Amino acid sequence: MDTEYFQHKGINFASLLYSEDRLHYIENEFKVRDDDVFNVTFPKSGSYWMIEILSLIRSNGNPTCCQTVPSWDRMAWFEVDYPAQYFDDQPSPRFISSHLPIQLFPKSFFSSKAKVIYTARNPRDVLVSLYHYALITFVIKTPLSFNELFEDFIEGKVPFGSWFDHIKGWMQMKDSDNFLFITFEELKKDHRGTVKKICNFLGKELSEEAIDMVVKHSSFNVMKDNKMCNHSLAPESIMKKNSNFIRKGVVGDWKNYFTTAQQESMDKIYSERMSALNMKFSWDE
Ligand code: A3P
Repeated sequence: MDTEYFQHKGINFASLLYSEDRLHYIENEFKVRDDDVFNVTFPKSGSYWMIEILSLIRSNGNPTCCQTVPSWDRMAWFEVDYPAQYFDDQPSPRFISSHLPIQLFPKSFFSSKAKVIYTARNPRDVLVSLYHYALITFVIKTPLSFNELFEDFIEGKVPFGSWFDHIKGWMQMKDSDNFLFITFEELKKDHRGTVKKICNFLGKELSEEAIDMVVKHSSFNVMKDNKMCNHSLAPESIMKKNSNFIRKGVVGDWKNYFTTAQQESMDKIYSERMSALNMKFSWDE
């Protein structure tokens, strides 16, 4: 089966999971509630890691939900074609995941008090992670080579568009009280401290023991072995192989893939596109 993309407002989406109608509905009709919490990422930035952390914070560190309910049912992706009532029927506060760029977010969000946790990851590691994901899923076109995906990534031709535009768009909210910016690299460096920061943002007070449980059950090794989040339960229509979704989880794997020319090319584009944001990522551990 060949993966097909369609374009919506200049951005690529995989036809397998998304539709024009749904994207139109999300932008124009979806009713955001003031107590909604959104987990927003560009793909391969640690989205499922954040789902695990938020699930555990919500359950005060009790891992039962993470061990019994698949991650996509705990915090579903609202741009995916779900039945009409799926989100309407969820009790508040709803925890919702999204890869959407800010300009495609519901209009009702911008007049709400809903919270967004935006997790970003350095673009070189995002690209390497995307490359491996493309080899095991039907929702990304299988690249002929790493370089082919590199070119598509730079030109914003991958699903959800340009990494640079995605982050720049969402950073318009950086000074809002209802926006929390987290990086994958910061989570790697200080998992516990970052969990506390998220609790603080959500107004959730957890005991030190509960925080320990959040950290333990969202650790790389626990997640890799947990079939509720490691994608071993993902449908065959989506995944070619159900292994290696939780792959390496490190900062700096790009060094094993980038040529010097690719590194220079990415650096140049990064400094051109990101200079106004003055944002620094860690490129290794
Ligand atoms: P790698 O492919 O570099 O290993 P997403 O959930 O947005 O698709 O991101 C997937 C990336 O997050 C993968 O990166 C995966 O291994 C990593 N990841 C998932 N859970 C993690 C954890 N607990 N610790 C570190 N990395 C994790």
